[in-house]
Amino acid sequence: MSALVIKSVSKHFGGVAAVSNVNMEVPSGKVTGLIGPNGAGKTTLINLITGVLTVSEGSIHFGAQDITEVPAYKVARAGISRTFQNIRLLAEASVIDNVMIGFYRNEKTTTPASLLGLPSARRETAALRDRANKLLERFGMSKFADQEAGGLAYGHQRRVEMMRALASEPALILLDEPVAGMNDVEAGELGEIFRGLAKDGMGVLLIEHNVRFVTNLCDFVYVLDSGRMIASGSPEQVVNDPAVITAYLGS
Ligand SMILES: Nc1ncnc2c1ncn2[C@@H]1O[C@H](COP(=O)(O)OP(=O)(O)OP(=O)(O)O)[C@@H](O)[C@H]1O
Ligand SMILES: [Mg+2]
Repeated sequence: MSALVIKSVSKHFGGVAAVSNVNMEVPSGKVTGLIGPNGAGKTTLINLITGVLTVSEGSIHFGAQDITEVPAYKVARAGISRTFQNIRLLAEASVIDNVMIGFYRNEKTTTPASLLGLPSARRETAALRDRANKLLERFGMSKFADQEAGGLAYGHQRRVEMMRALASEPALILLDEPVAGMNDVEAGELGEIFRGLAKDGMGVLLIEHNVRFVTNLCDFVYVLDSGRMIASGSPEQVVNDPAVITAYLGS
């Protein structure tokens, strides 16, 4: 069970401190929330964790592994997966193919074997299709398996993005505003799925603007504002924190 531990991390873009001296811990088996106003640095933090951006200062560990300077593809291999704030799908590929793209991290078959259609490669593809179908079931998306991803309703496209991120069976998933633009019913359904993932032992980091959704769902919540961590604690502690109220409502 690996925890993600972020220590004194800063990220400067020229003169702008997008993230300032941030400490954060994301344990496995829990849903951890990260909230904060627009421009607070939430997405930047995910980009730092996943190696898309390099930190200016500080360290990031995942379990025993120091991933501070590790490039994105190796962070993925270490078991950290993410979704994007703006949906990124292959619009013309089917839903199931979009999900199966996410399997590549665990793909054992060498490319020549796949190209030659050797039995080992075919067996593996069948096993992956099986796993993809299980994910589709979990997300209530089985009936859309063969439809073009780009033609789906927005909420369903978001689900495809999440399934693709989960296909690699990560130990930790970072969700960047996964329920943005969804109604309460859709968001509630996804919340249940997130809780289920944590129950299975996965670490879940949930970035979200909807404070009510986060406080209902999360075990622990962090609050970023202008790059600084201004509060952290149980959902109740955080929503009653004067600094948080000021950040959201203005003083
Ligand atoms: N590549 C970049 N170059 C320069 N500045 C950047 C870059 N990425 C982010 N920033 C700046 O860093 C700050 C934090 O941005 P970030 O996208 O992390 O915020 P956020 O909390 O995800 O906001 P939102 O809720 O709107 O998604 C902003 O001021 C943004 O303009
Ligand atoms: Mg963002």
